[in-house]
Amino acid sequence: MSVGPRGRAHELEVAEIIRETADSVSLVLDVPDSLAHRFRYHPGQFLTLRVPVEDTGSAVARCYSMSSSPHLDDDLILTVKRVPGGRASSWLCDEVQVGDRLTVLTPSGSFFPRAFDEDFLLVGAGSGITPLMSIATSALMGGVRAVRLFYANRDPASVIFVDEIAELQAEFDDRFSVEHWHESERGLPSPDAMEAELAAWSGHRVWVCGPGPFMAVVEKAAESVGIPADRVHTERYRSLSGDPFADVDVTVVNDDDDAQVTVTLRGDTVDLAWPRSATLLDVLLAAGHDAPFSCREGECSSCACRVLSGDVTMRKNDTLVDSDIAMGLTLACQAVPRSEEITVTFDS
Ligand code: FES
Repeated sequence: MSVGPRGRAHELEVAEIIRETADSVSLVLDVPDSLAHRFRYHPGQFLTLRVPVEDTGSAVARCYSMSSSPHLDDDLILTVKRVPGGRASSWLCDEVQVGDRLTVLTPSGSFFPRAFDEDFLLVGAGSGITPLMSIATSALMGGVRAVRLFYANRDPASVIFVDEIAELQAEFDDRFSVEHWHESERGLPSPDAMEAELAAWSGHRVWVCGPGPFMAVVEKAAESVGIPADRVHTERYRSLSGDPFADVDVTVVNDDDDAQVTVTLRGDTVDLAWPRSATLLDVLLAAGHDAPFSCREGECSSCACRVLSGDVTMRKNDTLVDSDIAMGLTLACQAVPRSEEITVTFDS
């Protein structure tokens, strides 16, 4: 069967554009009441946008995190920083206007806290602040524990959300501390500096987002000061090689050796035969269920779900980390059965 992006792709109107810095904007998207249930999100998640390629009629897909918090904001807000020579970010920063309609997939991603009952250390650089801002706001509004933000930027003028961060500091001065690091004054954050930062806050779970080299320094520092890998969460954006907005063909061949799977998806529970050669996502799509997905390549985590009982294995996984897998998360687009009976949920 051929499965279109129906149920996953939607058009949202740009209600407002906020110029954050010289090279970054926030796009406030209007989510109509009829789609509100589809666009509920966790702080730290992202949207996949369809970005037209000039004069060709074709498009590419790019992922951008929400900077808004479901604990504070009624609107859904994406924040985008212009990448030099980057067609998608330039289009979003320079050409999109209020009233335009953007084609997007529903929220995705596994970079979000499952609870706010422990301390957080948020470590970001540049536009990596976007999911961290959402997490910080939610942790402060929705929890009672301490939040530390280390935020590196080129110079003071390039700091996104400088006012919003200051307002949160004023409101939560006993729980929220911030270290701004400006490369214009102190150079790039060094391994020693990051080790000192992480050692001082090593009791916190660490959430990291920024350019690749920066994240590598942070991860190395975390290892050096003895923070367990399952307490270090990272968010990396990859360009999707496929087109998540295109129709996909799904074929599932049942045989006598099929496993049995019970799946909970948006409040409904179904029982299905799961052929051992088929992925869980294909089984669901072939049966007509509107399971979430984007890349189908094990790279985006849009299809992440939790195995509650039984055993699966992933053919490929470029996005879930050990701590995700330890919590039972798997990628439906890559999961094939290992046990006879399996129970899975997409709802938590
Ligand atoms: S759809 Fe992207 S990882 Fe499964």
